[in-house]
Amino acid sequence: MRITPLHPALGAEVAGIDLGQPIDATTRQALSHALADHLALVFRDQALTPAQYLAAASVFGPPMEQHYSQHNMPEFPLIGLIWHQNGQQPAEQWHTDHTNRERPPAATILYGVEIPSAGGGTSVANMRAAYVALPDDERRRLEGLTTFNSLERGRADTRREDQDKYGAPIEHPMVRTHPVHGSRAVYFHISKATHIAGMTPEASQAYMSDLLERMMRPEIVYHHAWRKGDVLVIDDRATMHRAHGDYDRRERRVLWRIIVEGDRPRLA
Ligand SMILES: [Fe+2]
Repeated sequence: MRITPLHPALGAEVAGIDLGQPIDATTRQALSHALADHLALVFRDQALTPAQYLAAASVFGPPMEQHYSQHNMPEFPLIGLIWHQNGQQPAEQWHTDHTNRERPPAATILYGVEIPSAGGGTSVANMRAAYVALPDDERRRLEGLTTFNSLERGRADTRREDQDKYGAPIEHPMVRTHPVHGSRAVYFHISKATHIAGMTPEASQAYMSDLLERMMRPEIVYHHAWRKGDVLVIDDRATMHRAHGDYDRRERRVLWRIIVEGDRPRLA
């Protein structure tokens, strides 16, 4: 296994691993630490069946249910299909996944199955670096704040069963300590957070969007330009990510998504 950094702030390519084969305990451990260190791992030229993909993803944690179940693969419901010909919009706003869960994902894993000829990349930002770059007084302020998280309102296609299972408000700290790495990172999802504790929804949204604007400098962002067969593993505990809708919508862009369960976010 060889690990080569892809960007000064985060992201590394992992070579010498076929994710279609069983992965031994030593390699699993090394990959889990590599993810905590580099925050985004890229495996090129993979050829995986859904079952092989699920087995590989479990290196990073137990695959968990995704709450917009209408987009899950019928025979493999732990794999979500990301494609835009079925009415989904690319998630172009910075976010981390499924913050409305008590134990949100440790990682989001994406497999490039069909890739448009240009555009349609995925950007990942290092929220550990974003935290360090904030002024001292704002870092202290953020450490005292929590968000309440729920499924996005106003999405007409949300199934009633998903709303019932995953709609209850869940509180998370806005700064969390990484369970493997021990460092702190800024943590929130602007459209899943209904509000910040003690603030109105309007003031909460205004503060989060101002924070995003100040934090997301190019120095802390790795942009992944997809190739067919790429597997991109994103550490959701210390990053935010976004899709880019800058591709020809007549072309197909199909990613298979797995999320794996992590710990309950806490600030240590
Ligand atoms: Fe996402």
